[in-house]
Amino acid sequence: MMETVHVGLGDRAYDIHIGPGLLAQSGALIAPMLARKQVCVVTDENVAALHLDSLQAGLASAGITMEALVLPAGESTKNWHHLEQTVEWLLAQKVERRDLVVAFGGGVIGDLTGFAAAILRRGVGFVQIPTSLLAQVDSSVGGKTGINSPAGKNLIGAFHQPRLVLADIDVLGTMTPRDFLAGYGEVVKYGMLGDAAFFEWLEAQGPALAAGDEAARIAAVRRSCEMKSEIVMRDETEQGDRALLNLGHTFCHALEAATGYGDRLLHGEGVAVGCALAFELSARLGLCSQEDPSRVRQHLREMGMKVDLKDIKGHLPDADALLELMGQDKKVVDGQLSFILARGIGEAFLTADVPRNVVHELLAEELSRR
Ligand code: GLY
Repeated sequence: MMETVHVGLGDRAYDIHIGPGLLAQSGALIAPMLARKQVCVVTDENVAALHLDSLQAGLASAGITMEALVLPAGESTKNWHHLEQTVEWLLAQKVERRDLVVAFGGGVIGDLTGFAAAILRRGVGFVQIPTSLLAQVDSSVGGKTGINSPAGKNLIGAFHQPRLVLADIDVLGTMTPRDFLAGYGEVVKYGMLGDAAFFEWLEAQGPALAAGDEAARIAAVRRSCEMKSEIVMRDETEQGDRALLNLGHTFCHALEAATGYGDRLLHGEGVAVGCALAFELSARLGLCSQEDPSRVRQHLREMGMKVDLKDIKGHLPDADALLELMGQDKKVVDGQLSFILARGIGEAFLTADVPRNVVHELLAEELSRR
């Protein structure tokens, strides 16, 4: 049942294994990469309570011992304090350059642990074992690691590719439906940005996938990882094409900032709303037909996801303030807002050529419907 996507990055190439029961097989899969049979695992309280025993047993079945650092769950862990704690703990565990550190959790743990591995002894190898759908299809792949600064999200970090990614589909079974659907926002993004046939497949299979269909989940994670790895192989450090992965993100980052990066709007929910806005903007600019944003919205609606600004509860600032927040996005170059727009489903492209008044009008209209 295990599928493998290879990320061909020369001497930094690695495999992403996707399938059920991978925690149980983790020892067998990791052992060939180890100089000595011990690993340090960084995880969070939620994941530890649910899955750390399974990981420990899986590693032990290949004779690998582990020590674990269990951090608090949540975005606020991605900070200097927990980075320092993690690095100092890894040093106290006497992790050497030839050892592997294991990041066992969602995007927060993956980003923080990957960054700790990047700076520890000027770089030790690490393995990603992502436990959320978002981490399996996005953050565990491609080597972006880092922490947040009081000045903004993900502003401190490094590119440091993992040596292996193990995406155990069974682990997704313990996610809340809301978190799962937030991760699905990133899955559907891949179809929208570069693969119309995948989008069509998701229109048909999305409901089964959300309900727990294993084969559909494996296929969706595999195709997402394949698409991400193809883009990362073309443009590892985001000089060009990799920016396509940010479809919906300029809107999303502004909405996350406006809602306090918390429970009101999860990142993947913001991505879905942002993608709907990006398609609407594309249609208004005459780049794609009006049917495309309608089709995007309809699918997100059918999946029970947030689609429009009116789906975000509580106060939102006005269009000027949202535009101002969009201007603070770290992808802004020379003060120019850039957007990923689309000529159709599966045909995204990057442009800085978007009249501010069209974006303003779109946001003002969407806000007036709330
Ligand atoms: N999540 C976007 C990227 O990895 O480039």
